[in-house]
Amino acid sequence: MVGVAWPLHGIHLGTADLDLAVMREADLPILGSLLPADLELNPHATRYAGLSDTANRRVVVAQAYWRALGMWSPDDWALPFVVRSAGVVVGVQWLEGPDWRSERTVDSSSWLVAAARGRGLGKQMRAAVLTLAFGPLGAEAAVSSAVLDNESSLGVSRALGYRDTHRSVLEHSGETLQHVRLDRASWDRSGRSHEVIVDGVAPALPLFGLGPVEGTPS
Ligand SMILES: CC(C)(COP(=O)(O)OP(=O)(O)OC[C@H]1O[C@@H](n2cnc3c(N)ncnc32)[C@H](O)[C@@H]1OP(=O)(O)O)[C@@H](O)C(=O)NCCC(=O)NCCS
Repeated sequence: MVGVAWPLHGIHLGTADLDLAVMREADLPILGSLLPADLELNPHATRYAGLSDTANRRVVVAQAYWRALGMWSPDDWALPFVVRSAGVVVGVQWLEGPDWRSERTVDSSSWLVAAARGRGLGKQMRAAVLTLAFGPLGAEAAVSSAVLDNESSLGVSRALGYRDTHRSVLEHSGETLQHVRLDRASWDRSGRSHEVIVDGVAPALPLFGLGPVEGTPS
């Protein structure tokens, strides 16, 4: 019944080394315990006096999950995936579609536990959600951004063909953010979608404002 009413959880993505499943409430405790200390969380999220920094960070992650599902609309959605390697949780990959039906442009963000970094997994998980976006969701472009000294995040973007567009300054920290963009033609030329398996999307298409695929049972 839940699957029928909320088919997003049927979406699964697979790469050479990773499985990506849409996050569930039951994943929150393990994600809270793995949260890397160097991951910058939404500076505008509510922090609660009386909770430790660690507890507040876990609350930010949980509320981001509930907000994403609770505020979902075809015009502004955010889809969080739990990333597993050989069945073990190693990180999180978000795919977002702000102004989705008018812009057809996705954004993304991600983190990996420290031990899983620097081995190409960041590229695999970004490629997984890009395959979903440029494939069944029909995106026209993908954007991303990271502070200038986040060389691994910008490295993932550059390795996947994103180009620099512009810079902006973060109000809360004064740091400079590099914005990058990947268009559909560049993605298609890269051939990377062949490295990813995308499963279970058809029943969820109406939640992205897209019609069901012809021949899909209703
Ligand atoms: C960002 C993150 C998910 C990337 O995952 P990863 O597994 O480390 O990245 P990969 O190994 O797949 O690829 C990194 C790319 O950046 C490059 N890179 C990494 N560090 C670099 C550095 N210091 N200078 C230049 N390039 C660098 C790598 O060479 C690689 O590119 P290549 O394949 O062209 O050689 C991971 O590092 C992370 O969790 N960081 C902390 C959280 C974070 O900052 N998230 C992003 C903000 S939303």
